[in-house]
Amino acid sequence: MRSNGCCLSGVHSTTTATTVGLALDRIVCDDNLVFMSSLPDGCCDLIYADPPFNSNRTLGPTKRHRATFNDRHGEGVRGFLDFLQPRVKEMHRLLSPTGCIFIHLDWRTVHYVKVMLDEVFGQDNFLNEIIWSYRSGGVAKRWFARKHDTLLFYAKKVGAHTFNRMRHGEYRTLDLRMSSDGRPFKQTRNGRLYFHPEGPAIPDVWDIPFLSTVAKERVGYPTQKPESLLERVIRASSNEGDVVADFFCGSGTALAVAARLKRRWLGCDLNPDAVAITQRRLDEVARFRQLF
Ligand SMILES: C[S@@+](CC[C@H](N)C(=O)[O-])C[C@H]1O[C@@H](n2cnc3c(N)ncnc32)[C@H](O)[C@@H]1O
Repeated sequence: MRSNGCCLSGVHSTTTATTVGLALDRIVCDDNLVFMSSLPDGCCDLIYADPPFNSNRTLGPTKRHRATFNDRHGEGVRGFLDFLQPRVKEMHRLLSPTGCIFIHLDWRTVHYVKVMLDEVFGQDNFLNEIIWSYRSGGVAKRWFARKHDTLLFYAKKVGAHTFNRMRHGEYRTLDLRMSSDGRPFKQTRNGRLYFHPEGPAIPDVWDIPFLSTVAKERVGYPTQKPESLLERVIRASSNEGDVVADFFCGSGTALAVAARLKRRWLGCDLNPDAVAITQRRLDEVARFRQLF
């Protein structure tokens, strides 16, 4: 099954990706290796990839998740790397010269995939190991509870890449005072040390809540990620009109957030349920944007 997504109107591309003649704002139901090989070099400004975690489980269907997701690759980590490597090479080819990629993994494979990504992107283009820290149910008796995922963040070419520094939260510094023009400062022996009024720059550990079982944004797909996580990724490494791609799109969280933030988008998943859910989500964003 192939499905063409709706085209969102009113987005004026300032994109740095090479997209002349390329049909954007669409989701395809196919193996992503096939879809990516049909796309031209440099057509994506930002790629978010949330591949299977190689958990060797089948997730769903449950009361909450109508769809099923089969996360089995066989042949252990080697088999998983053999699956992922040609896809990562394609993603590298598709990134524009200013492009970036976030690859979302967990403890099962992240250390192996980091080594593989260094080979494909070059170690110098590694930007961050982002720890997405969350609390969710379940405790471990024989080891510390596993409560984080890791996002490996690479540039196509460090220095040329898009990065919008973001600020969030409170300063940990004690004794902060406020100047008459509203700037926080600390009095030091050498005078006032001023801090940015919008708070500290976001570091590489992100405390973002896991999607609760009753969250309004739940769409019934196992492995669905929170929109607030994707919003941070997309704001950090793309601008309005840029092309954001997710070739393992699942329920389409990255694409829905990209559309809401006025980015162009490209999506793919080989599971028809995932594509149908994503399509519905994107139609809703388009309807909402037409209202305003
Ligand atoms: C972890 S889920 C993505 C979840 C997504 N980030 C979300 O928020 O819903 C991974 C997805 O990759 C898809 N997938 C696995 N292998 C694929 C392949 N070769 N081509 C396209 N999609 C694939 C699965 O069907 C699954 O929906």
